[in-house]
Amino acid sequence: MSRILLIGSAGQVGQELQTTLKPLGDLISVAREHLDLTQPDRIRQVIQSAQPNLIVNAAAYTAVDKAETEMDLAKAINAEAPTVMAEVCQQMGASLIHISTDYVFDGSKNTPYTETDTPNPIGAYGQSKLLGEEGIRQVGDRSPDFHYAILRTAWVYGAQGKGNFVKTMLRVGADRPEIRVVADQVGTPTWSTEIARAIAKLSPHFLAASEAPSGIYHFTNNGITSWYDFAVAIFEEAEALGFPLKLEQVVPITTAEYPTPTRRPAYSALACQKISAILQTPTPQWRQSLRHMLTELYSLTHS
Ligand SMILES: NC(=O)c1ccc[n+]([C@@H]2O[C@H](COP(=O)([O-])OP(=O)(O)OC[C@H]3O[C@@H](n4cnc5c(N)ncnc54)[C@H](OP(=O)(O)O)[C@@H]3O)[C@@H](O)[C@H]2O)c1
Repeated sequence: MSRILLIGSAGQVGQELQTTLKPLGDLISVAREHLDLTQPDRIRQVIQSAQPNLIVNAAAYTAVDKAETEMDLAKAINAEAPTVMAEVCQQMGASLIHISTDYVFDGSKNTPYTETDTPNPIGAYGQSKLLGEEGIRQVGDRSPDFHYAILRTAWVYGAQGKGNFVKTMLRVGADRPEIRVVADQVGTPTWSTEIARAIAKLSPHFLAASEAPSGIYHFTNNGITSWYDFAVAIFEEAEALGFPLKLEQVVPITTAEYPTPTRRPAYSALACQKISAILQTPTPQWRQSLRHMLTELYSLTHS
């Protein structure tokens, strides 16, 4: 029976992975309390005692703005830890599926980014995630038998986990009649459940000898939108479901009107044809998944 080690099991994607990976084998889930990723020796120890065939790493330093002043911590968790995971996997003959981000790109394109486009992160978080990708890739370059996938995704939200854009909009919209949202950043909102489903479908290709090559895979929901249009959709769907809202108006603003400590890519849609050819099932439009997530959240919070 296959043994899968899920690292970062308490995050918004990690919690969904606990459900989708379970049917695939013997699943060992670890969260920060059991494995602090700033401790490389502890990473080696936990992996060696679990003896997995596959590691799925859903843990990360995800505080995008704070990373500007905590680059060493972001690098330890997002760059050094996944590199150690790759080294231990390579030594043990295990595979690795690691999650990365659209923020490795600078956003200067206006068509979806492919896996072969050159990354150029414009913030510390994106830089730390790119270093993690490079660390894993270098282990793969040295040892072609090491089988890995780096799954880049974007604009993640889900019913589980501490917080995300959808939950923030619902909280603010329950309190205020007006909210201002950036309309000149474009990308694809992606439901954590869809990411967890995609990883579960990808996993068998990395548990056994398979045609699926090691490397980078882009995965998001389908479609492209702005944060402003995403917010409008959240409120339309939430109102239809009966969420309590005081909100009357969403006002579109520019990025310049909403300064943040770190810059975000203006355009970060990802082209997902490479993974679609393996998964062979269409990924839902972002709005369809949003409706499903809100339905789930409503039943969790209003029952
Ligand atoms: N969120 C997004 O919009 C987005 C977009 C693109 C890509 N991604 C990528 O998607 C993946 C999953 O992200 P997510 O949205 O599920 O993030 P999340 O909810 O913030 O989950 C990350 C998990 O990592 C854990 N973690 C942080 N520091 C750790 C440490 N030192 N040792 C052990 N665990 C630690 C966190 O633990 P605590 O709960 O204790 O902090 C949390 O459970 C990440 O690779 C992220 O970079 C996310």
